[in-house]
Amino acid sequence: MKIILGFVLIFFFAGCEKKHTSNLDGKKLLEEKCSACHNLDLPPKTFTDEKAPPMMAVAFHIKDFIKAGSESDKIPKAIDFVKDYVVNPNASKSFCDKKSLESYGVMPSQKANVTQNELEAIAEYMFEHYTLKNLTKAQAIENRLRKMPAGERLALKYNCLSCHKKEKDVVGPSFAKIAARYSDDVVYLKKSIEDGSAKRWKDYRGAVMPSFRNKISDKELDVLVEWISKMKRIKEI
Ligand code: HEC
Ligand code: HEC
Repeated sequence: MKIILGFVLIFFFAGCEKKHTSNLDGKKLLEEKCSACHNLDLPPKTFTDEKAPPMMAVAFHIKDFIKAGSESDKIPKAIDFVKDYVVNPNASKSFCDKKSLESYGVMPSQKANVTQNELEAIAEYMFEHYTLKNLTKAQAIENRLRKMPAGERLALKYNCLSCHKKEKDVVGPSFAKIAARYSDDVVYLKKSIEDGSAKRWKDYRGAVMPSFRNKISDKELDVLVEWISKMKRIKEI
């Protein structure tokens, strides 16, 4: 199970998305053109002084309210709605409820900032990315991250886990073995992560550990080595 989740995490962080029909990058355009007002996170973050509804809410909203003869007509119609609304917004067209419209105000036209081709790529990405399936997946990952010790989260963030596992040797020695060899010498551990390492572990047939100097803040390094050095107490080897 852990391994499967590991893959899901890698997949998620790599941001793998289906290829678009046009060669414009909808995700990048959305970030460039829309994130000044709409929060783009999935699940969304909400703020008390937010300027606009989060983009996930916008996408869900439109999909719920758009009228279409069949389910398969919905997405093309939703894309057309976005292409029109962003350049010609008005209160009577908006699917936002009255109260939200009053508090946000109608969206200012973005006609001068975005072309129809760019909008098509943005809208395609919106309806591909903001789905219930992706939301559920993202929430499961968030829950898993929240339950992880802070040190393990950092090991994931800095990709240590692609070469080290907690108890299994992969490209590099397991963290449990490293902890056993250096005991609680956190000063040494910090230095060795900053310097990188080669030829200290003869079982690793020339594999080299890159230097992480200036890539990890000192505070984060403290948390990381604290987590590694406790590993042997989790499982004596
Ligand atoms: C200057 C701030 C601002 C920017 C930039 C902006 N929006 Fe909006 N947008 C709003 C506000 C405020 C609303 C809510 C009121 C409304 O529906 O008009 C909104 C609403 C929308 C709606 C309608 C939602 C509904 O439920 O009917 C869509 C679609 C939308 N935005 C898409 C976009 C896209 C795509 C971009 C980037 C190209 C973008 N917006 C950029 C402020 C902005
Ligand atoms: C590209 C693969 C790779 C990555 C990424 C990597 N390591 Fe390593 N690590 C290794 C290898 C291989 C060794 C053993 C090298 C040797 O023989 O000295 C090692 C050794 C170590 C050692 C022991 C060093 C010593 O002096 O004995 C520590 C501590 C360590 N890694 C921590 C980390 C941490 C923390 C991260 C993430 C910030 C990380 N590693 C990322 C491959 C990697």
